[in-house]
Amino acid sequence: MAKYLVQKSKPLNGEVIISGSKNAILPIMAAAILTRGKCELFEVPALRDVDVMAKLLRCVGSTVVEDYENSRLEILTEEILAEEAPYELVKKMRASILIMGALLARTGKARVALPGGCAIGARPIDLHLKGFQAMGATITEGHGYVEARAERLVGANIYLDFPSVGATENIIMAASLAQGITILENVAEEPEIVDLANFLNKMGAKIKGAGTDTIKIEGVKELFGTKHAVIPDRIETGTFMVAAAITRGTVLIKNAMPDHVKPIIAKLRECGVVVEYNDESILIKADINPLVSTDVKTLPYPGFPTDMQSQFMSLLATVKGSSTVNETVFENRYMHIGELNRMGANIKIEGRSAVIQGEKTLQGAQVIATDLRAGAALVLAGFMAEGVTEISEIYHIERGYEKFLVKFRKLGATIIRIED
Ligand code: EPZ
Repeated sequence: MAKYLVQKSKPLNGEVIISGSKNAILPIMAAAILTRGKCELFEVPALRDVDVMAKLLRCVGSTVVEDYENSRLEILTEEILAEEAPYELVKKMRASILIMGALLARTGKARVALPGGCAIGARPIDLHLKGFQAMGATITEGHGYVEARAERLVGANIYLDFPSVGATENIIMAASLAQGITILENVAEEPEIVDLANFLNKMGAKIKGAGTDTIKIEGVKELFGTKHAVIPDRIETGTFMVAAAITRGTVLIKNAMPDHVKPIIAKLRECGVVVEYNDESILIKADINPLVSTDVKTLPYPGFPTDMQSQFMSLLATVKGSSTVNETVFENRYMHIGELNRMGANIKIEGRSAVIQGEKTLQGAQVIATDLRAGAALVLAGFMAEGVTEISEIYHIERGYEKFLVKFRKLGATIIRIED
């Protein structure tokens, strides 16, 4: 098994270029099967999850050209040959479920292996299925699979009990080819939803309101191939912002969209970090003021993103004062706390919140990455820990951060990858 060895690093310094968004490219790849025309995608990050989604599209009949040298993908789905997402791919990546709405809309049938839970929670898909049912699909479950069938999907009024990102994306894709109008309320407002809607509208869909809590989709008969460059990854952006802060460094983050990381800018400023930005880059100066504690509550966008919670907690473990973190999106996203405490942090869970006593000198230890972002948080903590931090299960990290080691080494971090 591969591991990272992280040594205490001097303040990170220099420039980093943000890659395309993992959580934007995955639903957009699924949406590409809604047309028999060719879709060309740009700014595509070279990630394991993208490769898994490409394999899934090939399973249903797409031709997918992966050209990561040029951050490009070409997807052509002239005919759907199978309406199924097999377990061996779904178990590798929960986001495989995002193909369900597009398969259902294009063929009237979708059979997808139920994605299991993961370290951060049960991850149910009830809201996805409720949306499909509202549009006239019949849902059956059995033997670890869920199947949806519909002669023709019909537009409906749908209210989401929770602004689920995946459910919003799946229902938008299904509604794009449904008969009539779908009004979707209490939806996710994440930038990745807006990017998906922009892509679909370029294909000829009629979607209004993406980025607000209500989206109107007028179904059309056919969608067409198009070209699209995905947005930069706002969580990779936030991860490098916090990495600069925790090492008290000075880092210029390029190809970023400051508008997408406003909560992280606000929270870093509360901690005393100097943050300057223009429309495509963010400058972090963390050696100007002594850093102090603050409180964080994760919320659906535009609130503080749950995907930045663990990285920010690493920072709070090293600043002066006591902080609280309240994770409200996932029911079990504190697995990194035990690992951080093994490095000398002082973090206690009280109810649904975590209380962090800061200004701890962290020590290198052997720790385990429990999910993508928890793994990134342990790397950041390792930059401030005396001695060497050995991180295992790093496949979590490598599935979602393009050129992770290269980018950090370029900023002066001391991190190597070893095969056990
Ligand atoms: C997306 O997951 C992201 N993944 C996650 O990023 C991110 O953490 C999450 O949104 C929240 O922002 C991708 O975009 C590929 P949700 P998703 O549906 O769509 C509950 C990362 O690190 N829920 O918004 O699965 C669910 O249990 C990953 O890149 C239901 O109850 O998230 C959770 O508590 C991790 N029923 C909450 O909603 C449903 O049908 C948020 O889940 C669906 C969700």
